[in-house]
Parts: sequence; structure tokens; C-alpha cells
Amino acid sequence: MKKTDWRQNRCRVKALLQAEESHGEVFVQGWLRTVRSSKGVAFLALNDGSCLDSLQIVVGSDSEAFEVASRLGTGSCVGVRGQMVASPGAGQSWEVQGDEILVYGDVDESFPLQKKRHGFEFLRTIAHLRPRTNAYGAVFRVRSRISHAVHTFFQERGFVHVHTPIITSNDCEGAGEMFRVTTLDPENPPMADTRIAWHDDFFGTKTGLTVSGQLQAELFAMAFTDVYTFGPTFRAENSNTSRHASEFWMIEPEIAFADLADNCQLAEDFFRFMVAYALEHCREDLEFFNQFIDKGLIERLERVVGTDFQTMTYTEAVERLQQSGQAFEFPVEWGCDLQSEHERYLTEKIVDGPLFVTDYPKGIKAFYMRNNDDGRTVAAMDLLVPKVGEIIGGSQREERLEVLEQKMKDFDIHPESLDWYLDTRRWGSCPHAGFGLGFERFLMYITGMENVRDVIPFPRTPGNARF
Ligand code: 4AD
Ligand code: MG
Repeated sequence: MKKTDWRQNRCRVKALLQAEESHGEVFVQGWLRTVRSSKGVAFLALNDGSCLDSLQIVVGSDSEAFEVASRLGTGSCVGVRGQMVASPGAGQSWEVQGDEILVYGDVDESFPLQKKRHGFEFLRTIAHLRPRTNAYGAVFRVRSRISHAVHTFFQERGFVHVHTPIITSNDCEGAGEMFRVTTLDPENPPMADTRIAWHDDFFGTKTGLTVSGQLQAELFAMAFTDVYTFGPTFRAENSNTSRHASEFWMIEPEIAFADLADNCQLAEDFFRFMVAYALEHCREDLEFFNQFIDKGLIERLERVVGTDFQTMTYTEAVERLQQSGQAFEFPVEWGCDLQSEHERYLTEKIVDGPLFVTDYPKGIKAFYMRNNDDGRTVAAMDLLVPKVGEIIGGSQREERLEVLEQKMKDFDIHPESLDWYLDTRRWGSCPHAGFGLGFERFLMYITGMENVRDVIPFPRTPGNARF
């Protein structure tokens, strides 16, 4: 049979299962999740990634395809032609009576996804195959839909999407966590006296992978008013936690003529939009997570869509933590960075929902945040959510040239190294604000998956960049 004949009436599994009436003869292609066969009949569960459910293919012993069907193994890749008929079995509307089977790719018994359920830890070691499981299929379908939702939200509101650079010479967060980008020979670099001659490097200066697109987004906000970037972000921090990846994706809006309250409002609107979008467009996958990963998930998400987020200053948060009587591993006092145990306690125990913490001590936040009039805090905000902790970090930006220059000196950043950034404060500066939402942290929040490694296709973490 010619290939063109096979592709006629080709149908994706999702469309087929949702069909109102039978399409008659159909052709489906995909990977077999299970194969059960006996003397008289073979059942194949075929999945093509279009939805969580697999399509049941029934091949009777009177069919020419029976011999092929009964020797197929779990994981093999096939095309099936047959009649689409109402399924007598529970849980599915339609099934296909297989008349002909085309085998694209066979498997043998060493295919690792034979068992129905594997632990996530094991599945991480086969990240090249794990998209073929129910859980990861659901995760990556949701990831795809939600990245579309990001653009929908901002585009509908007139924001301009900026592609900020991935290779950069500035460390936005000033935390010294940049991966170096160089073409110098590490064994034999050019030297100027006793130091490496970075001016001989490819870009004529020291460069690295971006830790944030914010500084460049700010430049664009000074021309387009409302902008956002959504791209990969890299951090060489050696923290092996379930919430940190060395490569992750971040959404960073930047808005002109805005203060901290406007920034929190945008963050809240955006967050709620995305949760509502997931509930509407990813229902089947969320139901899977609700059933197998996190029992209270959908109820929690529905509650978030309908309630206003709470706000608390850092100073108040510290007082509430101190009064809580809870024994924390790290004691809390004014001036310390909040640890994830503190963040989780605030959002889970004290408010039981999303919480903005604002106005942090200036010494523990980045140089670009706007000084408050009290002289000791900055107009910063973090959004904390149950189960994940910090999911958004943002601030109003310091738009006053002299104050910003002084702040840079206090943080040991040479103002000349960011002269282009300071130019926006020299010429046509204005109050502005923005934030960053960690895309993987958001996916953890809406799927209930507990490890950042399980919501990014090929995770990069210390010691791990295999796939
Ligand atoms: O709080 P962060 O470091 O803020 C910034 O980078 C600002 N420049 C954002 C801005 O104002 N435009 O990071 C923002 C968010 C965090 O709240 C967290 O959700 C996520 O990015 N994030 C990480 N996600 C995964 N792995 C990591 N190592 C992360 N570091 C930060
Ligand atoms: Mg932060």
C-alpha cells in the first residue's frame, strides 16, 4: 500500500476521542502504551501525545493484522487503519477495529518503560524517553499551553515582546552566578601581566549567559511603555534544591509610569489569568495531576482565581514569624534574607494563600531597586505561594540618577560598566517597575509536581547536563 493511502483519513487521538460521530475508516499513528493479547483478540493502547488518554485498538483473530498485533511490544511505534466504532468498554467513547498495522519502529524487552508506574527519580535518568509517560506527557502539554498563555496575556494588553540577549557582559542580579562564555583557550589563555587578557576574548570583554533580561527590558520600557521578555535564564548557583535549576525560563514584564502597587497589581492579574487559563485549557491534564500527584490541586487553583492576594511588609512578616512560636532552622531577625522555610510558613500557615511581601531591607536586595524614604528599605516585592514559596521577585526601579549611582557604588558596581543603563536615568527617566516569574516554579504550582527537574524537558542542575 502506498504511503499516501495510509495517510488518508489520518486522525489525531484527541480529535478522535472527542468526536461526536464516527469518522468511519480512520488512520492513527502513535506509540503503544500497553499491549494485551490472547488467542482470540489483541488490545493495543495507542498514544500520540495529543491528549492524556490512549486510543484502544481492537484486533480480532479474524483480522489480517492479528498476527502483527499479537507480537507487538509496549513502546513500539505503529500506524493503524481501521473502523472507528463506539466502544463498549467503560471510560472511552470510541475505539478502532484494527484492519491493517504498519510498524514504524519495533521494541525489545529492554525498553525501560514496561512497568505501568515508575518513580520520578528513575524517570529523570531516562529524560529522553520520559515524555512517553502519562505524567510527563501531561506536564509538557501544560507547559506548551501555558507558554502560549503568557503571550496571550501580555499581547492582549498592548505589551511589546522583547527578545533580550542571552550572551551579556553584565550581571543583573549582582550575585556573581554567571556562566562564562568565552572562546579563549582555557589551558593557555592570553595574559596581560599576571591576569587573563579578557579584552582578547571574542567580544572584547568578559561575557556570560544572562541571569535576567531585566536591564535590557528596562531600556525598552523607556520607549514602548509596557514590555515583557520570556526566555531562558542561567544561574551558576551551586544549590541542589528541588526548586533551583541552572537553566530556567523567566517571564519579565517591565512597565513605565508605574510604582510598586501597580507592579503588584499586574503580577496578581497575570498570575490569576494564567491559573484560570490552565483550568480552562488544560482540564484533562490537571485532573490527572489532581488524582495522582496532588489531591487538593484543582480546588486550590480554583480558590486562587477567585480571591485577592494578601500583602504584608517585610517588617511585618518578620514580626509575624517571630511571634509564631515556630522553631525554624534559621532564626528570623530584621535584616536577614527570608529562607524558604520562612516563606513557606508565611504563605502556608499564616495566610494560607498567595502573599506579597514588600519593602525589604536594601542590603539584601539588588542595586536597581528603588530606595524608600525610610532610608533602610527598598520598594521590592516577592510573591510567595503555598508549596512553592517564592514564585515572583520584582520591584520599583531606582529612576533617580544620583541615587542610583550611589547605590551602585555601595554594591561595588562600577557605574562606568553600566553607563548605557545609567543613560536612561540621564535622558527621559521615569518611574517604572517590573518583576520576574519563574516559569518552572509556576508550572510546579499548577501541576503539583514537586521538583523543578520534572517540569523542564531536559533539566540542567549542578553535575547534570546529559541530555
Ligand atoms: O528574584 P529573581 O532573582 O529576580 C530577578 O531576576 C529580577 N531581575 C526579576 C525582575 O524584576 N525582572 O528571580 C525571579 C524569579 C524567582 O522568583 C523564581 O521564581 C525564579 O525567577 N528563579 C528560579 N527558578 C528556577 N531556578 C532558579 N535557580 C531560579 N532563580 C530564580
Ligand atoms: Mg528573588
